[in-house]
Amino acid sequence: MREIRTVIYYYSATGNSLYVARELQQAINGVEIRSIVQAIQEDKPEAKADCVGFVFPMHYFGLPLQVEEFLHKLTILESPYIFAIATCGVPYWGRPFVDAAKILQEKNQQLQAAWYVRLVSNYIPWRDIAADWQIAVRAWLAERKLKKIASAIGTREQHETWQLLRKFCAGYHDKWKARQQEIAENFQCDKEVCTSCGLCERICPKGNILRPQGQPIWQQDCVECLGCLHICPTEAINYGEQTKGRKRYRHQLVKPADLLQR
Ligand SMILES: Cc1cc2nc3c(=O)[nH]c(=O)nc-3n(C[C@H](O)[C@H](O)[C@H](O)COP(=O)(O)O)c2cc1C
Ligand code: SF4
Ligand code: SF4
Repeated sequence: MREIRTVIYYYSATGNSLYVARELQQAINGVEIRSIVQAIQEDKPEAKADCVGFVFPMHYFGLPLQVEEFLHKLTILESPYIFAIATCGVPYWGRPFVDAAKILQEKNQQLQAAWYVRLVSNYIPWRDIAADWQIAVRAWLAERKLKKIASAIGTREQHETWQLLRKFCAGYHDKWKARQQEIAENFQCDKEVCTSCGLCERICPKGNILRPQGQPIWQQDCVECLGCLHICPTEAINYGEQTKGRKRYRHQLVKPADLLQR
């Protein structure tokens, strides 16, 4: 059996973080990438490798809720080199690495390196997807940065990422967490446009979408990844009024099928 030297756990709704995990897999020998959504369903997920990485999107200046949950649940055997990468849509500021380091510390593990990679913001309730030229420039910069990150991981470099306005970010992130129950109420489906293809149900990392009559009905367990909104091929799904007329997004090197959870 092939020896697994590096395991990268990823979480991705629109492909940015999956793209990053795959780029590192290409650049580093002996990398296995695993989906956090799949791994979190195991009774006792365990990581046994020389190097363990986590790649995830920034959600409200912090960790996505399921990534936080997974970090708590995962057992990391021995003392591997551990790194984390947050993909973000706006210039980086937040606290995901402070939180990840704290959870790892409780397990007597240490986060040795953390980086952010800016790609495209999929948070269209706030503002529309970036222009094509901006996407292209960021893709070029990200590719260059990932080469440096891969080489730093290869040499087990320690790398700290600054955490600006920690308290402000913590407050904002906590407020977001507190209103999780209300989030599902913002989703709506245009029945005239929905073709009952089922992709929204299949991408949902929480199994939060039911389709008794073909169209999606959101339950109360949404983590606001926005996977359903972006994957809908007919743009039938909206989040409040703000997303109407705004573009949908998926990383150009990731296929919809790669993001489905079921
Ligand atoms: C609920 C939510 C909150 C977000 N908050 C931030 C944020 O605080 N900072 C940021 O740079 N991007 C934020 N984004 C944008 C994503 O982090 C970014 O688009 C990421 O690369 C998406 O990764 P994915 O395609 O792997 O899901 C947010 C996205 C969502 C859905
Ligand atoms: S992805 Fe869109 S078209 Fe397909 S079932 Fe969901 S809402 Fe309908
Ligand atoms: S309902 Fe949509 S936004 Fe909420 S967790 Fe599922 S896919 Fe993500």
